[in-house]
Amino acid sequence: MNGATPIEYKHKLEDLLNLRRSAWHSYLRAARTERFSWRRAPKPFHHQLKAFINNMTWVIIYLQHRFGRRHRFQDYSHDPTRGIYPLVSQLPVNGDLHAEDEIRVSLAGDWGTGTSESNRIANHIREFNPHYTIHLGDIYFVGGSDEVEENCLGNPQGKSIHAVTWPKGSHGSFALNGNHEMYANGHAYFDHLLPRFGMRLGPGMEAMGQKASFFALKNKYWAIVSLDTGYNSVGLPIFERIPYLKKVPYVGGNGSLPPAIIRWLREDVRPHLEGRAVIILTHHQYYSAFEDYFPEAGRQLREFISRPVLWFWGHEHRLAIYGLCQAKGGIAAYGRCVGHGGMPVTIRAKPRYKPKQSPLVVYDDREYRNISGTPVGHNGYVNLIFTGPWLRIEHRDVQERDNLLLTETWEARGEELVGRDIQIQTSEKDFRQYHPDLHFAIKPTPQFELERVSV
Ligand SMILES: [Fe+2]
Ligand SMILES: [Fe+2]
Repeated sequence: MNGATPIEYKHKLEDLLNLRRSAWHSYLRAARTERFSWRRAPKPFHHQLKAFINNMTWVIIYLQHRFGRRHRFQDYSHDPTRGIYPLVSQLPVNGDLHAEDEIRVSLAGDWGTGTSESNRIANHIREFNPHYTIHLGDIYFVGGSDEVEENCLGNPQGKSIHAVTWPKGSHGSFALNGNHEMYANGHAYFDHLLPRFGMRLGPGMEAMGQKASFFALKNKYWAIVSLDTGYNSVGLPIFERIPYLKKVPYVGGNGSLPPAIIRWLREDVRPHLEGRAVIILTHHQYYSAFEDYFPEAGRQLREFISRPVLWFWGHEHRLAIYGLCQAKGGIAAYGRCVGHGGMPVTIRAKPRYKPKQSPLVVYDDREYRNISGTPVGHNGYVNLIFTGPWLRIEHRDVQERDNLLLTETWEARGEELVGRDIQIQTSEKDFRQYHPDLHFAIKPTPQFELERVSV
């Protein structure tokens, strides 16, 4: 024993276990972990009553948010960058000169939990020394300003806890919008988080602030288009439960892209898609072999994209790799679910399709811990390494050291995205190859088309 005090994090994985995808449940769980329980309050009765009232304020906060206005949706109409930034190895930009060197990008989804695991991921991303880092959304429990400060910006709110800091890229950092940020109507996300993110103008300079919840990074080979499926993902109380209202934005919460993003894609982004391979980033899953999914954004993208893309998403708390697949009426995408950044990772779930008839190729079913009888999987993240037209993808976890699980190699041949190689790098048996052919994950055929499925 060296007598050192163990570091206290705001949350343990236990606090976040079995959190349902509902605003009500998220507010309840936030209150339970943060507030003094009236049951444990000392007698006399007026102390207990005070604690009880204190406990119940979360209901009022919940109702205020559910019936309150969402934060105004921000766009680039007054911003000369138009939200399209260079994907390069050196700043300031000198044409496409620096597109040929190694460019490092790290992604993590559903990372904002304030746990020791999310802190470990942040440290490993820092060691990778990325030029760009992108959070795919979800700061828990409800994306409030205290939670943004403690789980993402490294500022403890008057308590002796270790607050976790998102690892900043040397060129810039970006954060997508998730459903949990919208449980607090997006106020802390737009007003506290985004001003601390965004591009830097040069080495060592402060970030300029991320002006909107969507953006693009591009060089002469690649276009990374990052979109906001979170803003329209939370519906109106009660109405969101009525099946035929589910498709109505804001009422049903279907994850569709707001009109300002469609205008931006049409007017600003479209010319940059020509001649480049496209990577899409969103918070919500375009499709899934495990859960309900959100095909609307993929359908809206059909106007702009006619070729297969690589699409990284979070929201589902797992690592899953898919072959080429499209929702009915949507674009074709090689899906990569990487929502295993900070939440207890779901394992032992049964895929809904049979192996040979499924776009699912690999998923991580390894157990990290057993929490009161519930096994949870490993938290992890993704590194993208661009070198000219080549892209190497490294899927990693942070068990004790930085473990490499799966690698992929892609080539941008003009607009065409060509899968060159995929390798499982771990021998652990519960890192499951589901489809008999691993290369199905990077092959252009056959291609699945899925109807929306509710589970
Ligand atoms: Fe999440
Ligand atoms: Fe989510």
